[in-house]
Amino acid sequence: MIFVTGGAGFIGSNFVLDWLAQSDEPVVNFDKLTYAGNVNNLAALREDPRHLFVLGDICDGAHVASLLALHKPRAIVHFAAESHVDRSIHSPGAFITTNVNGTFSLLEAARAHWSGLPGAEKSAFRFLHVSTDEVYGTLGPHDAPFTETTTYAPNSPYSASKAASDHLVRSYHHTYGMPTLTTNCSNNYGPYHFPEKLIPLVITNARAGKALPIYGDGQQVRDWLYVSDHCAAIRAVLAGGRVGQVYNIGGWNEKANLDVVLALCDILDQLDPKQTGSYRAQISYVDDRPGHDRRYAVDARKLERELGWRPAETFETGIRKTVQWYLDNEAWVSDVQSGNYQNWVEQNYARRKPAAEAA
Ligand code: NAD
Ligand code: DAU
Repeated sequence: MIFVTGGAGFIGSNFVLDWLAQSDEPVVNFDKLTYAGNVNNLAALREDPRHLFVLGDICDGAHVASLLALHKPRAIVHFAAESHVDRSIHSPGAFITTNVNGTFSLLEAARAHWSGLPGAEKSAFRFLHVSTDEVYGTLGPHDAPFTETTTYAPNSPYSASKAASDHLVRSYHHTYGMPTLTTNCSNNYGPYHFPEKLIPLVITNARAGKALPIYGDGQQVRDWLYVSDHCAAIRAVLAGGRVGQVYNIGGWNEKANLDVVLALCDILDQLDPKQTGSYRAQISYVDDRPGHDRRYAVDARKLERELGWRPAETFETGIRKTVQWYLDNEAWVSDVQSGNYQNWVEQNYARRKPAAEAA
């Protein structure tokens, strides 16, 4: 089986759903259920014996160690993180705690588990760390895209905390020989994306008749990747990546933010037209994000060369599917917006006694 951290978040839940759609290998899904974690994302797996959800914090090394000893996973796929740049600007502390200290605790538990494995299992074990292109900093308009050897230059507390976690993972391979893999991916979009990030925020605000906020001049560029393509890339790296290596993942889809928002308005105008006028009328320019990175672009040729991965979706196909998903899943959106999705922790855990007390 595999042990996934952060599997109730946006990318993690897509990964777990895709994994179990393609293989029968069970998943232990370990997640703290912060505001970004939502078990409703995993509703399709509620009765599925191949999926075990465990509520927990990666900073709790003893809890992780006990689960690794019990389930003996052949791999850890580490998604858990604080992931929103704007939140990291307002409150960086949680980013250091989870992304840096939490990754360190997880690495320590993984190292103890891996060290005790017998020969063949020990060499087959993998620790796959999911990271971001933001560790490389920002590009000028004519700079070549980020490669795996681009110098790290993180600019936000979020990207600095992810950079620190990448360095820790690298050191566990270099120092202890732990079989690690690191992936650095560009901006994802798709189903179950929490509506604090640009694309789901614009879709949900548009339909609610609210403003569509564009930071600064809207000419910042991101390289967009449909989430299931990211999940496929992670599966490919887990299966065939060379240990100790870094693989960049990107969509070959550079778009300025304003163009993304205009595209969303146009698709909504077709699929869910307003009574009068276009959603474009709701666009509103607001103050820029402090320290806002101007451009990201990823060179994903290493992954293509070594493992044959290419994204299946273009921006045009992926963005249309995404808008349609939000139109088809109004209950998911309203649960997230009302905070209802967080009641699950209360319902499921509040009235349970610890096993020792219950006995
Ligand atoms: P997300 O914020 O949607 O989900 C994060 C998940 O981690 C949530 O389920 C949350 O409950 C869980 N979590 C947070 N702190 C935890 C802790 N201390 N212990 C256990 N679980 C905890 O994030 P996402 O967008 O799905 O990103 C997943 C990973 O991919 C992150 O590591 C992020 O840095 C990376 N990444 C994201 C993108 C993107 O565009 N979203 C792109 C590249 C890389
Ligand atoms: O590049 C990968 C990263 O992409 C991941 O590591 C992060 O976890 C993920 O959140 C994402 O970071 P961004 O900051 O690029 O994503 P976000 O959706 O927050 O913003 C995308 C762009 O849109 C960015 O340039 C800021 C801008 N923006 C964002 C919001 C929320 C706006 O103009 N208005 C907004 O309201």
